[in-house]
Amino acid sequence: MSYETIIVETDGRVGLITLNRPKALNALNSQVMEETIAAAKAFDEDDEIGAIVLTGSEKAFAAGADIKEMQALNYVEAYGRDFFGQWERFAATRKPMIAAVSGYALGGGCELAMMCDIIVAADTAKFGQPEITLGVIPGMGGTQRLTRAVGKAKAMDLCLTGRMMDAEEAERSGLVARVVPAAELIATARETAKKIASFSLPSVMMAKEAVNRSYEQPLSEGLRFERRMFHSLFATDDQTEGMAAFTEKREAQFNNR
Ligand code: CAA
Repeated sequence: MSYETIIVETDGRVGLITLNRPKALNALNSQVMEETIAAAKAFDEDDEIGAIVLTGSEKAFAAGADIKEMQALNYVEAYGRDFFGQWERFAATRKPMIAAVSGYALGGGCELAMMCDIIVAADTAKFGQPEITLGVIPGMGGTQRLTRAVGKAKAMDLCLTGRMMDAEEAERSGLVARVVPAAELIATARETAKKIASFSLPSVMMAKEAVNRSYEQPLSEGLRFERRMFHSLFATDDQTEGMAAFTEKREAQFNNR
């Protein structure tokens, strides 16, 4: 498939998606949304891919949903189309996704980064939910995922004031896993994705699924789910290989089975 608003590449077992709508600071219009979802789905279905990196430009990961596109929507259209609902298909990607964020990650941009599993930020990154300044509220998960990531105090602060937080504050708050110098962002994200993709894919996918479960159910059910997943991995060749490699003091050769 050919794309116009994103660049799609592979680097070994890593799939790379670069948002590429520079004139609008990667504002997420319908085309960007459809292409990004399609690219993530294609990588998810590709046995040769073990992890995905999503990034933007140096100036902007994404400056939000496209305000000009949604400006004229009325309520019936927004509700009828379940506007932004499609993005949940991106969030449902089963392989690990790393957001490599440089510059602005605002509104839908911040929300898109939060749909990924790990956010690596350049020291230039700025995160925010400025929808309140437009007379609306976040609509791609900002009030929910941000609150789970940084807690109520900071989520309220960001959603109610529309202010931006820098990379250092985002890391301190728990939104961002790592902050690196801007020049090292892509290399760090790629290396992290390569490392993840070098492990057994079933265990990587189950680890992601189990961590995500912790958001959706009580601790006792989450613990049970985790244990059942853990038990199931003893049916894989990769468990046999991983544990044998440890005892034989050699590197494991996983074959994703
Ligand atoms: N939608 C549409 N166009 C956008 C955009 C957006 N979210 N963000 C930037 N652009 C466009 C600008 O209109 C401008 O286009 P023109 O050259 O045609 O005028 C171009 O990108 C460059 O932007 P600026 O000139 O504004 O660049 P700047 O460096 O002066 O400012 C900025 C950068 C602070 C990020 C500023 O662009 C900005 O505030 N953008 C909007 C941020 C925002 O409100 N995001 C939330 C959107 S709503 C949302 O996301 C809802 C949701 O929950 C999903």
